[in-house]
Amino acid sequence: MTGFSVTGLGATGLGATGFGTTVLGLRTSLAERETEALELMDDPACDEVLLARTYAQFRVVNALVAGWRTIYRRRIRPLLSADRTTSLLDVGSGGGDVPRALARWAGRDGLRLEVTAVDPDPRAHAFATDPARATPRDGRDRVRFRRATSTELVAAGERFDVVTSNHVLHHLDPPALATLLADSARLARVLVVHDDIARSRFAYAAYGLATSPWSGRSFVHHDGLLSIRRSYRRAELVAAVPPSWRVVPMLPSRLLLLHEPPSSGEGTSGA
Ligand SMILES: C[S@@+](CC[C@H](N)C(=O)[O-])C[C@H]1O[C@@H](n2cnc3c(N)ncnc32)[C@H](O)[C@@H]1O
Repeated sequence: MTGFSVTGLGATGLGATGFGTTVLGLRTSLAERETEALELMDDPACDEVLLARTYAQFRVVNALVAGWRTIYRRRIRPLLSADRTTSLLDVGSGGGDVPRALARWAGRDGLRLEVTAVDPDPRAHAFATDPARATPRDGRDRVRFRRATSTELVAAGERFDVVTSNHVLHHLDPPALATLLADSARLARVLVVHDDIARSRFAYAAYGLATSPWSGRSFVHHDGLLSIRRSYRRAELVAAVPPSWRVVPMLPSRLLLLHEPPSSGEGTSGA
């Protein structure tokens, strides 16, 4: 079977064969998840300037491909109210752009949403809370950033109406995935939405091409491609999670992992 190819890119061209996808000269099989290689930004000794640029560029990537505007409109906004506060926790918030966007959209809609964002990585926390990076309407002041893991919040007995994550699932080995799912199911009163990449040749080729100008200037090109190789196909994610979780595909090349805890009658926070 021959997939698709983009020609005219010379020696650093991009194309796909039945056995693998070639992005910028590297032939890669996407038949199975790549679970061994580590992302450059996960190296604690990585270059700080490149890392900061990577967080900043992932904001652009997330805005273009992660689909949070759609998730907000279809799944989160219907739960919100102008009179009653709803609490939302974003787990593994990295540079913090997704929770800030959610807080901003709710604010614009006149809805009361209290957003907490947690990540144990000190570098992510420092980037997300750096006042020098604040812009007037980026939603930063509406989000409480904390250096913590989901497990620490469970241990502290914390609860939130909605729990979200972006690009965290593919990052985790099976025990860490099981922990995240158990934690998020315990932390959420109403809804959990984990949003991640669906591994596909289209995603790999399109992302490789679109981010090639950033290659060498940040980790976005390398780590994004590795993230796609690490990410799940729908059937793989269904097989990896307990039956109470639903896997819903979303364009472009996304998987939503959804959980609605059985109604406890608690409703949303009501603060
Ligand atoms: C690939 S980054 C995603 C960052 C951000 N959500 C984004 O989309 O740009 C994954 C992050 O999840 C964090 N993480 C992994 N497991 C976690 C957990 N159980 N609780 C909190 N953060 C976690 C890691 O520290 C890492 O910063």
